[in-house]
Amino acid sequence: MISLKNITKIYTMGNVQVQALGTLSLTVKQGEFIAVLGPSGSGKSTMMNILGCLDKPTGGEYIFDSTPVHQFNRIQLARLRNRKVGFVFQSYNLLPFATAYENIELPLLYARTSAKKRKERVTWLLKSVGLEDRATHRPAELSGGQRQRVAVARALANDPDMILADEPTGNLDTKSGKEILNLFESLNQYGKTLILVTHDEQLASHAKRIIHLLDGKIHQDYLN
Ligand SMILES: Nc1ncnc2c1ncn2[C@@H]1O[C@H](COP(=O)(O)OP(=O)(O)OP(=O)(O)O)[C@@H](O)[C@H]1O
Ligand SMILES: [Mg+2]
Repeated sequence: MISLKNITKIYTMGNVQVQALGTLSLTVKQGEFIAVLGPSGSGKSTMMNILGCLDKPTGGEYIFDSTPVHQFNRIQLARLRNRKVGFVFQSYNLLPFATAYENIELPLLYARTSAKKRKERVTWLLKSVGLEDRATHRPAELSGGQRQRVAVARALANDPDMILADEPTGNLDTKSGKEILNLFESLNQYGKTLILVTHDEQLASHAKRIIHLLDGKIHQDYLN
């Protein structure tokens, strides 16, 4: 389904260059549940941003459903991301002045979904993350766990094949973290590909495959 081949990512800051990835190769099949581990600075977020079409690699090939994504411009990347990828961040990244309902609706607006379908979909998503009674709350009026559930619902809005989560439980207490994990596990049971960056070995133990990054390379890759 997706494959990274000899991916490199170099950040240039003034005359200093940081090699964040290099060279990294990885194949992921539809329906896999992968945990990504590795020390701070090892390139986990950089790899996730490339996988999620939020950023472009400096070199190498990225094939997504037989499409050469590395040749895409920013607009093509944004379109692919909107339709195929759901991204969940540690810091939720919700719009602060929009309600839970409006935050979840946003990717549907970008995808030009009709008003009737949007309403059906957002109502169903709010229910499936257990927040039907919080639709009109803004992020500041929600707990951390509830914010992250809104973020998961938003990631699912356009029914993506792949969910990418970069330390989604990093800001949550143990109980809320477990709820998010349960949500992810049920999504994976429905056939969604799930790639999860975590520092939490306990969380990682739920994954079917574990990848360790070190210095921008895959150090270990094994079935759990
Ligand atoms: N936008 C950027 N500009 C310049 N350098 C960057 C940028 N983003 C990341 N880097 C550098 O690239 C390397 C990899 O960073 P990355 O954020 O991918 O690490 P990480 O594994 O996610 O770490 P953490 O566990 O702390 O989140 C680091 O050395 C970092 O300083
Ligand atoms: Mg990171």
